[in-house]
Amino acid sequence: MKEESIIKNYELADDNVLDNTIRPECMDEYIGQKDVKENIRVFVQAAKMRHEPLDHVLLYGPPGLGKTTLAFIIAHELGTNIKTASGPSIEKSGDLAAILSSLEPGDVLFIDEIHRMPRYIEEILYPAMEDFSLDIIVGSEGNSRNIKIDLPPFTLVGATTRAGDLSSPLRDRFGIINKLQYYSVEELTDIVKRTARVLEVEIDEEAAVELAKRSRGTPRIANRLFKRVRDFAMVDGNGVIDLAITKKALDRLQVDQLGLDNTDRDLLHAIITKFNGGPVGVEALSSSIGEEVTTIEDVYEPYLLQNGLLKRTSRGRVATEKAYELLGIPYKK
Ligand SMILES: Nc1ncnc2c1ncn2[C@@H]1O[C@H](COP(=O)(O)OP(=O)(O)OP(=O)(O)O)[C@@H](O)[C@H]1O
Ligand SMILES: [Mg+2]
Repeated sequence: MKEESIIKNYELADDNVLDNTIRPECMDEYIGQKDVKENIRVFVQAAKMRHEPLDHVLLYGPPGLGKTTLAFIIAHELGTNIKTASGPSIEKSGDLAAILSSLEPGDVLFIDEIHRMPRYIEEILYPAMEDFSLDIIVGSEGNSRNIKIDLPPFTLVGATTRAGDLSSPLRDRFGIINKLQYYSVEELTDIVKRTARVLEVEIDEEAAVELAKRSRGTPRIANRLFKRVRDFAMVDGNGVIDLAITKKALDRLQVDQLGLDNTDRDLLHAIITKFNGGPVGVEALSSSIGEEVTTIEDVYEPYLLQNGLLKRTSRGRVATEKAYELLGIPYKK
C-alpha cells in the first residue's frame, strides 16, 4: 500500500465516526495547547487592530492533535472566510492560481499536508505569500509572457505532520510557526466531557478519565474511543458511560493502559524479539512490521518516544526497559 493511502486510511477510520458537531468552533472551546492558543490570540487581535491580515501560520505535529480544527478557529476569530486545499491535490500551477485568485481580502487559505506540495507549485506560493502577487506565464510556447496579478492580502495557514520535509524557503515565509503537543490526561478528560455534552450522553468522571488515559494523547482518538464506548453503553447497559463499561469496551478494542494499540505493541515487540532490543534502522523495522516508514515516523514513534518506550540513537531505534516491562519480556542489557 502506498504511503498516502495508509495515512489516509488511518485518518478515514477515525473521521468516519466523527461528527463535525464535536469539532470546536472558537478559541474558547479549543482545549489545551495553552501556549499556542495564547500566542495566536494575541497575533489575531493585533492583526485586527491594524486592519491587516494575520501573518502566515504554520501548524505542525502528529495526526489528530487539532491542526485542521485550529485553522478553522483562526478564520473564525479573524471573522473571515476559509478556503481549503491539500498539498497533494494541487497538481498544476493553474490549480493554485485558481485558488489564490478566488480569495477575498483577509481570507484564510488553509493548505493541509503542505509538505506534499510539488516544488514547482511551491515556487508560485513564494511571491503570493510575500507580496500578495501571482506571477504566471500566459500564451503558448514561443509566444509566452509573464504577467503579474495582484492578489488580495490573505493569510496562509499550512498544516503538516512533517515540518522537517518542508523546504526552507517555504518554511521561512511563515511568520508564525507552532508545534502542537500531545494532550495531557486532564485536557483529554475535558475533551471527552465536552464531546459527551455535545452528543448528550451521560458519562461518569472516572470513565472520562479512563478514556483520556487511553487515548494516546490525541483528541481524535479520544473522540473515536468515546463513540465506541458509547455503543457498548447503549447495547450492554442503560446508555450511561461508567468505568466498568469503559474498561470492558477498551479491552475489547485492544487499547491498553497506556493507550497503545496493536501496531504500537507490534513495533516494540519486533525491536525486542527480532532485533535484540535494537538499535535497528527504521527501514528494517518498516519491512518487519509491514508499516510504511513515514507512518512509523509520523504516527507511531512520536508517542512512544514521548512515553519513554523507545529511544532514538544515531544507530537506530532502541526499546527501553519500560517497553520490555510493558510487554512482559525480561530485560537484558
Ligand atoms: N483542542 C481541542 N479541543 C477539543 N477537541 C479537539 C481539539 N483538537 C482536536 N479536537 C478534536 O479532534 C479531532 C481531530 O482534530 P483535527 O482534525 O483538527 O486534527 P489534525 O491535527 O488536523 O489531524 P491530521 O494531521 O490527521 O490532519 C477534531 O475533529 C476535534 O473534534
Ligand atoms: Mg487535519
